[in-house]
Amino acid sequence: MSERTLALIKPDAVKRGLVGEILARYERKGLSIVAMDLRTIDPSLADAHYAEHVDKPFYPALREFVTGGPLVALVLEGDQAIDIVRRMNGATDSREAEPGTVRGDLSLSKTQNLVHASDSPESAKRELELWFPSLT
Ligand code: PPS
Repeated sequence: MSERTLALIKPDAVKRGLVGEILARYERKGLSIVAMDLRTIDPSLADAHYAEHVDKPFYPALREFVTGGPLVALVLEGDQAIDIVRRMNGATDSREAEPGTVRGDLSLSKTQNLVHASDSPESAKRELELWFPSLT
């Protein structure tokens, strides 16, 4: 079943010049890029996006990181896109991510972990409305 998911190529990936490498992986898999935007986000968008994490001890560092430079927000579409992009990204903690995944191949950090992707159909709906309201 064709689905849409939100993916973020985070500021560490933009700074490291990895946008092309990461986009190429999604494209080679067969996912379609439906929308794409390079932007530096306000703290208010970070707080809304990470609403379930704002009270956690790691959140201040995460907020500073995601608002600290431009990121690429993407809408990806394809059969089972939500699950596939999560699996392509790899485990949240890059040190535990499998080789062959974006994080497993390209990062050693838990916070500066290059990418984000919606983790369920409900999250995808919420995140797509938040990041790309004109598409929904
Ligand atoms: S948790 O802790 O089980 O709720 O983690 P998870 O649902 O996988 O996602 C947490 C998001 O916060 C980012 N982040 C961290 N998580 C845990 N610990 C630390 N120290 C941390 N720093 C940042 C993590 O990358 C997840 O964001 P996304 O954008 O989804 O990768």
